[in-house]
Amino acid sequence: MRKKYIAGNWKMNLERKSALALVSVLRERAGAREDVDIAVFPPCVYLAEVVRALEGSNIKVGAQNCCDQPAGAFTGEISAAMLADVGADAVILGHSERRHVYNEGDELINAKVRIALAAGLEVILCVGETLEERNGKLTEKVIGRQLTAGLALVAARELGRLTVAYEPVWAIGTGLNATPAQASAAHAYLRGVFAGMYQEAPAERLRIQYGGSVKPQNAREILSANDVDGCLVGGASIQAESFLGILESR
Ligand code: 13P
Repeated sequence: MRKKYIAGNWKMNLERKSALALVSVLRERAGAREDVDIAVFPPCVYLAEVVRALEGSNIKVGAQNCCDQPAGAFTGEISAAMLADVGADAVILGHSERRHVYNEGDELINAKVRIALAAGLEVILCVGETLEERNGKLTEKVIGRQLTAGLALVAARELGRLTVAYEPVWAIGTGLNATPAQASAAHAYLRGVFAGMYQEAPAERLRIQYGGSVKPQNAREILSANDVDGCLVGGASIQAESFLGILESR
């Protein structure tokens, strides 16, 4: 039985005061929960403070991106080792906003995945098709390629720190969530591809989150769908009541 994993990707939202107020409520109301894994992904500048604010709780903290290089002349970038150094547990990689707004390709994402795992971080690797690709019946081809390429050269011993998030691009920030059946079908397909890469047992253990317009109103239905092991929440994760509503919906 895979424990559900619910994560909040704050994206480029909140400021110092509102971020700390949010985590203080989350800590108080959900910080001791053991029935579900919880993580928040604040903007990098607030990472260290959020780590401190959640120290000793069961809520993990991660970053929304990292550099594919270990160190050096990469102005504006932050290394995976630096994230680990300030106490981050995890990093989100391959998010559709990175893929589509900043043109990150599979090879770059794979380099980030490998360097983050080598730094000891947990990784949430996001995959997902655009509406055009779904309409063209290319969903499996696209997400299969993103998964395979994203995990190239990742050793089986690292898989315990890997989560996959299926985030259809057309469902992100649109209010148009995938149906539970659409999510289940994509997750089952991804698990099959993963089993082909790493065998059945790691594929059975792999957690696959759904992301895209998850809210308290639809969380229960999505979280109870087959093969859905949690969710990666955007908009509804930056307010305590809506994120707690999702956490409480299971
Ligand atoms: P929304 O929940 O705002 O649709 O965003 C989903 C997402 O991109 C999480 O990473």
